[in-house]
Amino acid sequence: MSVVASNPKTKMQPRVLVVDDDHYTRTLIDRLIGKTAEVSLASDGAEARKLFAEVDFNLVLMDQRLPADNGIELLREFRARRPKLVGILMTGFADVRDAVAAVREGVFDYLTKPFEDLESLEAVIGKALELDSAYREIDGLRARLDAGDATVAVIGQSPAMERVLGQIRQVAGLDTTVLLEGESGTGKELAARMIHALSTRATKPFLEVNCGGLAETLLEGLLFGHEKGAFTGAGQANAGYFEKAHGGNLFLDEIADMSPKLQSNLLRVLQDHSFTRIGSTEPRKADFRLICATNRPLLAEVKAGRFREDLYYRIAVVSVTMPPLRERTGDIVPLATHFLDFYNAKFGKTCGPLTPAALQALESCRWKGNVRQLQHCIERAVALHTGGPIDTLHMLPGGEPSIRTEFAGATAATTALAYQDARGDFERDYFRRLLATAGGNVSEAARLSGIPRQNLYVRMKRWGIVTE
Ligand SMILES: Nc1ncnc2c1ncn2[C@@H]1O[C@H](COP(=O)(O)OP(=O)(O)OP(=O)(O)O)[C@@H](O)[C@H]1O
Ligand SMILES: [Mg+2]
Repeated sequence: MSVVASNPKTKMQPRVLVVDDDHYTRTLIDRLIGKTAEVSLASDGAEARKLFAEVDFNLVLMDQRLPADNGIELLREFRARRPKLVGILMTGFADVRDAVAAVREGVFDYLTKPFEDLESLEAVIGKALELDSAYREIDGLRARLDAGDATVAVIGQSPAMERVLGQIRQVAGLDTTVLLEGESGTGKELAARMIHALSTRATKPFLEVNCGGLAETLLEGLLFGHEKGAFTGAGQANAGYFEKAHGGNLFLDEIADMSPKLQSNLLRVLQDHSFTRIGSTEPRKADFRLICATNRPLLAEVKAGRFREDLYYRIAVVSVTMPPLRERTGDIVPLATHFLDFYNAKFGKTCGPLTPAALQALESCRWKGNVRQLQHCIERAVALHTGGPIDTLHMLPGGEPSIRTEFAGATAATTALAYQDARGDFERDYFRRLLATAGGNVSEAARLSGIPRQNLYVRMKRWGIVTE
């Protein structure tokens, strides 16, 4: 993994501080990432403090034992000044308990020295930088949100999402009908709100109605409005959404569920923006821009004879497809971090950060329910957790079956959390070495280690050591 590739937002190279009294370690890391990162080296606490005061580092790699300092305390000192500082602790085997405690209080990860596997060292550094860039993106968003920019809560830094956001920005200012397509939970409603917020109609109403959620007559009444006495119970006249959305945007969600009769009524309205309330013959005009959404591809509905072709071409003047989350895995960490912040604030908690294993599990999940499912997953983890880092296990209880199945391979549910925490990285290294010793044979590895085969298998799968 290239360090820069994992940090696509930053045109500048990420700035990394390496604090270690051991010349060999400093040089090794410098050589490993020096081409893709701007590395500063410090051999003791005093040097590190001086550099930290001058440079806004994206990542600090800290040795645990320094000549006059304790690395954990120094990281704590740095994090007191920059709470979202991403730090990695480097430690000898003997100090693992302290390292685990450090991870509990928010250090991203700990690595045991000497480094045997440079590839995984680089991967951990890449992940840490990814987290830093997610933090920075979210802080930037929050600043803009505080400044009153309502459009920025849409997170997406993957190329697929950048493209879609570009399309949205482009069409928002045009007064044309927009069709938003995409699987459930991909953010269609959010996109509709973003279009509204960026449009010239932003100060006028944004009205939404779910066409799948209402019976035909209710939906008709809601859209067209009615006159007094138009039907039993119509005690007074009521303006419909066409009228109420005047000057603004009208969002018709789940448009594919609209009945054939209403489809043809809507088509007529769209032709000249005129309509009559139910129980009236007086034509009325309303100036609204229509945004529609569907999670079933609408053209397929047309082909199947369930949706009017002429209406389709009216509403699909511009169509934007929200990509499923599994096709933009680069958005998972920023989204998860965003939701973590959100639910911490909502529940008054201080859970987090997400451990590397948790991030890895989140990134490998297929997310059939897309962003909504990810959001629920983090909400549940924060709701059930008392505080501190969130590991894979915290996202399991009560999880939706699909997530549970996917995470099942990522963790042995019978394993106690403390054990999970304590093993972390060197469990991965141990399994890797074990499998190599066993000549790649999992049964043999199980025999050698004394761990039941199935148990060993799921753990190896979790670390990506075996793939199927
Ligand atoms: N890019 C994003 N950034 C932040 N939050 C997002 C993003 N995309 C979706 N969400 C959040 O995920 C949840 C689901 O999004 P939304 O309701 O817009 O999906 P949808 O495509 O309309 O789904 P459905 O088809 O099921 O109605 C919402 O809470 C939304 O705020
Ligand atoms: Mg929706």
